[in-house]
Amino acid sequence: MTGSPVFEFDNVSFSYGRQAELFKNMSFRIHRGESVAVLGANGSGKSTLLKIMCGLCHPQSGSFRAFGREITGADFEDDGFSKEYHARIGFLFQNTQVQMLTTRVWDEIAYGPLQLPLSSSEVKGRVEDILTFLDIGHLRDRSPHRLSGGEQKKVALASVLVLNPQVLIFDEPTNGLDPRTQSWLVNVLLKLNKQGRTLVIATHNLELAHTLCPRSLLLSEQHQILFDGPSDQILNDYDMLREANLIDDFSHTHHNQTHTHRYTHQ
Ligand SMILES: Nc1ncnc2c1ncn2[C@@H]1O[C@H](COP(=O)(O)OP(=O)(O)OP(=O)(O)O)[C@@H](O)[C@H]1O
Ligand SMILES: [Mg+2]
Repeated sequence: MTGSPVFEFDNVSFSYGRQAELFKNMSFRIHRGESVAVLGANGSGKSTLLKIMCGLCHPQSGSFRAFGREITGADFEDDGFSKEYHARIGFLFQNTQVQMLTTRVWDEIAYGPLQLPLSSSEVKGRVEDILTFLDIGHLRDRSPHRLSGGEQKKVALASVLVLNPQVLIFDEPTNGLDPRTQSWLVNVLLKLNKQGRTLVIATHNLELAHTLCPRSLLLSEQHQILFDGPSDQILNDYDMLREANLIDDFSHTHHNQTHTHRYTHQ
């Protein structure tokens, strides 16, 4: 299921400050309604790629387009543009702690909707609905900074989902969640994708990529696109997964027999 392009990278090069170039001439497109996994070892550039999509990092050369228009750092100096862009794109950070802006869970979730032209009763309704949906009503008066990692992730998720954005960009969404919450989240994301939302998910979790994303984009440790295509194909290509440092085979001998264990990067 694909529609018009949501993100278009054409020969994008990016480096952090004066550091060596991280991405060099990177090109790919993501279309409306797609669900794409961004895979790669630690430091391969997954989070950075997502930050470019979210308008938090800006390429030094090449063209980055979102929703059909060229996006530059200067665009975000316009408050109206910035608000509109961030209402269309929901971003869940890898480290959700940095995402917390207030000192109370209820205010945290209401923060985004309060920036929209909604009445206070509409904002209240949305926040209450999402608290119930995520089963976190009991956390409403707590400080987001004093929650467990998993609870904090749920609050960050609530702050994104409450805005009902067209595009969801999630960085390692299942890390630190218990199994029930992980399957709950996968089901929510599958449903949102079925409704036409575009998903971009950075993950080490090959199982998650397989369940949720028909397409995978695999970054090498040299920050190049090693593979862009069907998840079914890449997840069965052990040579390429090994090359990208997403699986590793460890052999050891005991009782005169050699065993091989496969480690996946999760
Ligand atoms: N703010 C920053 N300033 C300078 N270098 C950075 C910054 N953020 C990331 N990097 C570097 O850029 C490279 C890519 O980092 P990135 O966080 O995108 O990787 P990643 O694939 O998300 O890794 P992980 O699996 O550990 O989350 C790394 O070498 C990292 O050290
Ligand atoms: Mg990362």
